[in-house]
Amino acid sequence: MIYLDSAATSLRKPDGVAEAVASALGCFGNPARGGHPAALEANRAVYACRRKLAALLGCPRPDHVVFTCNATEALNIAIYGLLSPGDHAVTTDLEHNSVLRPLYDLQARGLELDFVPADGQGRVDYADYDRLIRPDTKAVICTHASNLTGNALDLPRIAEIAHSRGALLIVDAAQTAGALPLDMGAMGIDLLCVTGHKGLMGPQGTGALLIRPGVELRPFKRGGSGVHSHDPEQPKDYPTRLEAGTLNAHGIAGLSAALDYIAVAGRESLYALEHARMQRFYEAVSVIPGVTVYGDFTQPLRAGIVSLNIAGLDATRAADLLATDYDIAVRAGAHCAPRMHRALGTRDCGAVRFSFSPFTTPEEVEQAAEAVRELAEQE
Ligand code: ALA
Repeated sequence: MIYLDSAATSLRKPDGVAEAVASALGCFGNPARGGHPAALEANRAVYACRRKLAALLGCPRPDHVVFTCNATEALNIAIYGLLSPGDHAVTTDLEHNSVLRPLYDLQARGLELDFVPADGQGRVDYADYDRLIRPDTKAVICTHASNLTGNALDLPRIAEIAHSRGALLIVDAAQTAGALPLDMGAMGIDLLCVTGHKGLMGPQGTGALLIRPGVELRPFKRGGSGVHSHDPEQPKDYPTRLEAGTLNAHGIAGLSAALDYIAVAGRESLYALEHARMQRFYEAVSVIPGVTVYGDFTQPLRAGIVSLNIAGLDATRAADLLATDYDIAVRAGAHCAPRMHRALGTRDCGAVRFSFSPFTTPEEVEQAAEAVRELAEQE
């Protein structure tokens, strides 16, 4: 199979990830729930992974790295932990439902919400942030890169506008962590939400919320933390304030091994490979008659995604044909990004998304482009 659905999840994991999970399954006790060697071993492994994530993503304190089961959970913790009915927030048309649905829920209960619009290629006008962020805006919530077009946002520029009005910046880096440069301190990110199973190439069921020291969030869930058991309230210190219940330490061990791989291979080198595959595919398919590609490919840094439609061929049908006739795995449909599809004019037809990883080979790219050419010629 030619796997071009890395924006949904990384299929091929780096060497060492599966072994780390298997080894953890054989020896981990419950992290932070005891003083015996098996519990301590799990606890040390979990803390080591916090340190690696903090180092990769520029979070000054490893104890401000909160483990979650995915980016969606991290976003829910950040959004519900910060915003209340009556607050004002600004977000964008690029967002995934993991941002939109919590915000719509809060909007129904009195949150004031404004959207930075996207144009027909999924681009924003930064003047709109200036126009929409008010002196009473509590937070700006935005994706680092669209899961549909791959277009990236200029986070330092948004942070500067947000901070000048006293608003915090919450970033959904589901499509970029492990690939694009991300440094919370340097980029002005207050709350960073990542998943472990995409660009970080770890197991599903892992993710994290990274918190700039000084940002206070209400607990999202409450329960056992292994400390202060007689206290009726959730502990106040991070990360336990936000981590009730047993962690996915086995998955975290796998994520930790993936982070080791990224540290040795180099994030920049891995991204260069992914970018080269994406760029070559874009160049090959964008000149095929009848093919419409969505997104801004003039950006030097963007997620490794190319979404397109073939004239006369339904997107879901195209994805089915790619799977059955060419053994190529892609994602078609709405991609949980309803406003982005509306901006692109693909609300009703959807689009076919090809997404690349550092492990995608040049031959796979050529075969996929040839398959698109054949499908377009048949229409
Ligand atoms: N959010 C993931 C995607 O874009 C699953 O496919």
